[in-house]
Amino acid sequence: MSNLHILISGGGIAGPCLAWWLTKAQVPAHITIVERSPTPRTTGQAVDIRDFAVDVIRGMGLEETIRSKTTTEEGIEFVYADGVRKAKFPASGDADAQSFTSEFEILRGDLAKIFYEVAKDVKEVEYIFGEHITEVQEESSNGKVRVRFANGRPEGQYDIVVGADGMISKTRQLVFGKGPDDGNYLKRLGQYVAFFTIPKMPSDTKFAQWYFTHGGRMGVTRPSQYGDTRAYLGVSDKNLSRFDGIARAMKEGKEAQMAWLAEQMQGAGWQMERLVEGMKSSEDFYMQETAQVKIESFVKGRVALLGDAGYCPSPISGVGTTSAIVGAYVLAGEISNSPDNIPQALVQYHNVLRPFVNQCQTLPPGAPHIANPQTELGVKIVDTMVGIASSLLVKKIASVVSGALPRAFTSRKWEAPKYAAFEG
Ligand SMILES: Cc1cc2nc3c(=O)[nH]c(=O)nc-3n(C[C@H](O)[C@H](O)[C@H](O)COP(=O)(O)OP(=O)(O)OC[C@H]3O[C@@H](n4cnc5c(N)ncnc54)[C@H](O)[C@@H]3O)c2cc1C
Ligand SMILES: *[C@@H]1O[C@H](CO)[C@@H](O)[C@H](O)[C@H]1NC(C)=O
Repeated sequence: MSNLHILISGGGIAGPCLAWWLTKAQVPAHITIVERSPTPRTTGQAVDIRDFAVDVIRGMGLEETIRSKTTTEEGIEFVYADGVRKAKFPASGDADAQSFTSEFEILRGDLAKIFYEVAKDVKEVEYIFGEHITEVQEESSNGKVRVRFANGRPEGQYDIVVGADGMISKTRQLVFGKGPDDGNYLKRLGQYVAFFTIPKMPSDTKFAQWYFTHGGRMGVTRPSQYGDTRAYLGVSDKNLSRFDGIARAMKEGKEAQMAWLAEQMQGAGWQMERLVEGMKSSEDFYMQETAQVKIESFVKGRVALLGDAGYCPSPISGVGTTSAIVGAYVLAGEISNSPDNIPQALVQYHNVLRPFVNQCQTLPPGAPHIANPQTELGVKIVDTMVGIASSLLVKKIASVVSGALPRAFTSRKWEAPKYAAFEG
């Protein structure tokens, strides 16, 4: 069998994870990863590794490396405007029964770096930074996919093209079009959240502190192992018109995004002024609309979408990274099963993963709005719910209230497939 030429667009979490598993698939392959950013993007705040993704990183021999990098968070506290605690949810201390703070809570940047390091040293893998695709065309004559690039890389022919280029995937747009209502296959959830790093203060503890107030506004501080504090600022509203300004700002750049947030947070109480000031001088500001990618099939011919590009469950699901890692494992496994029939392998990847994707995309009822009330009364009601959850010490309820974990995830339902190529 001749080498399979595989192109992966996007070197975030899913891309390098797929590359690693492909080199274990016992299929001769040459793998090219094109990443639009000129250097590895090793920023981002806490992400979780849950459920079967824990087995996948164990299979990569990375459990200890990842454990040594986990954030030092001991749990989460909901706080009132004066900083007094409403309720406290300690981490469960058990990888198989994870609460809001998962046992594998790691900064996205650290995880991206770990995956980059293991993938870049593999001889079959070629990394190209500062490049992205502009055209993808399936050729009927030789069954290959012709791809053109923006920044000088010559046109190439590939057996498989994988779009692992995030929620606003270029590959998805080029191959699947803009979707119903030109909506880019995005299901908007009525929330925008910014993530950034600020200096630590004595009042920041090993617990995440979560504050919400009327107007659907929230602020969160979380500890890190680097002696700083990781912060979130978010706005939620069912009325999507509230976001017209930020939707424009998303295209304009960071300054405009920060200005919109600063205005929204005026008079919000708690430490919100500190967070807004910290945001303005942060170096790793990253803002994202909270949305899910909903597409009937995330494969087409020899093109597959992977991770957020194909089935972003949104950060409030708590399983974006988990589904990207599990997806990479299944895609590599299915290619190992049918290297001679790639379209068939990709259809299998879709069919095997779909039930898991559906589970990941099941959000708690009313999320994110139930935990981000618009009115003062709404705030009191959520306060009460949070208080009850805490006194019962029901962590599963806690994660539903906080919107941090899909309910469907509280029990393992989906059985991960085993692949002969990865055994032994
Ligand atoms: C900088 C950054 C910070 C993040 N911070 C958080 C966070 O704090 N909390 C959270 O829950 N989630 C965060 N996310 C999202 C989270 O990483 C994903 O939900 C999840 O890990 C799935 O990973 P992915 O590889 O599918 O997508 P991503 O991690 O988004 O990776 C996609 C990669 O593709 C690259 N890319 C984009 N467009 C192109 C293109 N046209 N051509 C080539 N490459 C392209 C991006 O630069 C990125 O490296 C962040 C993502 C990024 C990119
Ligand atoms: C929705 O938000 C817009 C902009 O903030 C506002 O003008 C409008 O009145 C709101 N609509 C409803 C139904 O609340």
